[in-house]
Amino acid sequence: MILVSQPDFGPAETTAAQTVLESQWVGMGPQTERFEAALASLLGVPHVVATCSCTAALHLALASLESDGRNEVIVPSLTFAATIQAVLMAGYKPVFAEVEPETLNLDCIDVAGLLGPQTRAILPVHFAGQPCDLERLRQLAAQFDVAVVADAAHAFGSTYREAAIGGQGAATCFSFSSNKNISSGEGGALATGSDELAAGARQLRFLGISQHTWARRHQEKPWHYSVAGPGFRYHMSDINAAIGLAQLNRLNEFANRRRQIAATYDAALRDLPWTVPVQRNLAQTIPNLYVLRVTHGLRDALHAAMRLAGIGCGVHYVPNHQQPAFRDFARPLPVTEQLAAEVISLPLHTRLRPDQVEHVAAEASRFLKHARPAREPESRIVTALA
Ligand SMILES: Cc1ncc(COP(=O)(O)O)c(C=O)c1O
Repeated sequence: MILVSQPDFGPAETTAAQTVLESQWVGMGPQTERFEAALASLLGVPHVVATCSCTAALHLALASLESDGRNEVIVPSLTFAATIQAVLMAGYKPVFAEVEPETLNLDCIDVAGLLGPQTRAILPVHFAGQPCDLERLRQLAAQFDVAVVADAAHAFGSTYREAAIGGQGAATCFSFSSNKNISSGEGGALATGSDELAAGARQLRFLGISQHTWARRHQEKPWHYSVAGPGFRYHMSDINAAIGLAQLNRLNEFANRRRQIAATYDAALRDLPWTVPVQRNLAQTIPNLYVLRVTHGLRDALHAAMRLAGIGCGVHYVPNHQQPAFRDFARPLPVTEQLAAEVISLPLHTRLRPDQVEHVAAEASRFLKHARPAREPESRIVTALA
């Protein structure tokens, strides 16, 4: 079975993890500090706070915003549930916004209509690695004096107007879980230019303790710590940080391979019937997902046909406003609902061999060329499959 995504670990990652194990210091320590410094330098931001996940980083970023009674965060419904859970964990109400059908990124026109006296932040998701319209969002945020906290789980290594994604807005959060552009096993990071936000996030990350154990090791009384406020246990372990450092050395290799695969799919799937391409600018984006829109109720049939051919595809995502846990925050989102019925993610990861990429493109093309949607598109009945 060809998997829709998988990590790419080799001897360098194994050695890195083994070295940490042999050092007998596996918690947050020197490797985490090195990983944070390397990320800050690559992203061109003053502060990076490494965490156990992007969900944790998003929670920390939102919880570190100065609270002023405003309790809403505008967020797309078409994202992973983690984004919404982070908003709720930080004590905010998610206000679901539409996404643009062309890019699957936050629709700034809808956001403009949703901004109001209760809005504290806008939380764009750089879908599949493609940057949102950050300049428009910055203008809207300035107009309403709200923060922009970005979910860049998919977008590590992507750029916006020549600058790395990570330096814009109040904070940007990355994921290094197994299917991301680089993986530390599990892990995440919060990047920010704000000294206060970084200090707040660092304290919240480690149980409200102002200095973590490794940082206290040379003090006269290394056992003494002060709990300055509430906190979580969201730090990154040195095992994950060491794996992340090894993966950072391979970022260019990964970026090239992901772009190559996306370009191959683009060329093979161009002009096929029943599809609408999702716009992507491969010069500025490291594609984390390859999403195709399949119209006329044919998406599920394509998914099934690909599975029969030994190809695993994904659907990103079930809209959050339709999830039982978030139903209280639902509002009509017709564009999102239509897109959720159309999107399919083809396999995209750096361990795919060229013949596998060709096989995926050929199977998708074969299905789409021969598919005949029913006269009633709603019924989603497909006839005459090849
Ligand atoms: C858009 C988005 N946001 C947040 C997350 C959460 O990342 P993590 O698994 O590192 O918590 C993910 C994970 O896949 C994601 O896709």
